[in-house]
Amino acid sequence: MTTSKSMQVTEPKPLIVIKLGGSMLDRLTEDFYGSFQKLQEHYQIIIVHGGGPAITKLLGQLNIEGEFYDGLRKTTPETLEVVEMVLGGSVNGRITGHLMEKGVSAVGVKGSEAALLQADYLDKENLGLVGEVRDVNPLLLHKLLEEGYLPVVAPFGRTDDHQTVNINADVAAGAIATAVGAEKLLYVTDVPGILVEGKVLAYTTPEEIDGMIDQGIIYGGMIPKVHSATEALSDHLEEVRIVSGDQALMEGDALSGTSIRAKRKETV
Ligand SMILES: Nc1ncnc2c1ncn2[C@@H]1O[C@H](COP(=O)(O)OP(=O)(O)O)[C@@H](O)[C@H]1O
Ligand SMILES: [Mg+2]
Repeated sequence: MTTSKSMQVTEPKPLIVIKLGGSMLDRLTEDFYGSFQKLQEHYQIIIVHGGGPAITKLLGQLNIEGEFYDGLRKTTPETLEVVEMVLGGSVNGRITGHLMEKGVSAVGVKGSEAALLQADYLDKENLGLVGEVRDVNPLLLHKLLEEGYLPVVAPFGRTDDHQTVNINADVAAGAIATAVGAEKLLYVTDVPGILVEGKVLAYTTPEEIDGMIDQGIIYGGMIPKVHSATEALSDHLEEVRIVSGDQALMEGDALSGTSIRAKRKETV
């Protein structure tokens, strides 16, 4: 191999997917957004975001009652219009704007575009226009990353019959992390990690997670996170971390939150 300076190739930075929870978005600080510029020195970053509370708020303001199935809101065409306005519009624009203010070249992307998230209906009869990920085409994300942009993905998919569908943001983040070959997946949420009797669990494994779901220790909005985490773990993606958005993100985000690994490992 030649070592001439002109032929030096810089190693691509490792990829990290960071999911920002809707529950936390209103509370994210300047410091939090500021940490992305530092993180970008070490990682290529993709953000996937939720926005449940903002959607619920606008649906309320518009007096759209909605139908529920098993506690889950059915996404009617009318609801989807609001979801698109909020997730694909104001929420996505807000995150992108905060990052731009910090000097990060963020760009909003809808998962329903450029064949990014190809979806099937999860349960069309009962849940309406809600999708599950069938396939991911990460080409657009790679192109943006290559050019130094930070993609901010709103969790929509597109079905074979060309319908835009809403996808759970945790699930979308996990699927994207796998498809792009991310080394890390980070869930930023409104709790400091997986809590057991009020204490943050520093490390856990898929087996322990199954047990905690059975015992009702993990419930509600934490379930799609841990399920997606378990599915995303591989030889390449060795760690999924659940952290609070209350503090700035550190490089590697060592020491904070819950680390989920296939095998228990006490050192990071
Ligand atoms: N064992 C657990 N530890 C921490 N949070 C849990 C646990 N089980 C369930 N939860 C719930 O999960 C919530 C986080 O999920 P969610 O509200 O969907 O946030 P996000 O917007 O980040 O997706 C927490 O606020 C908490 O109510
Ligand atoms: Mg959630």
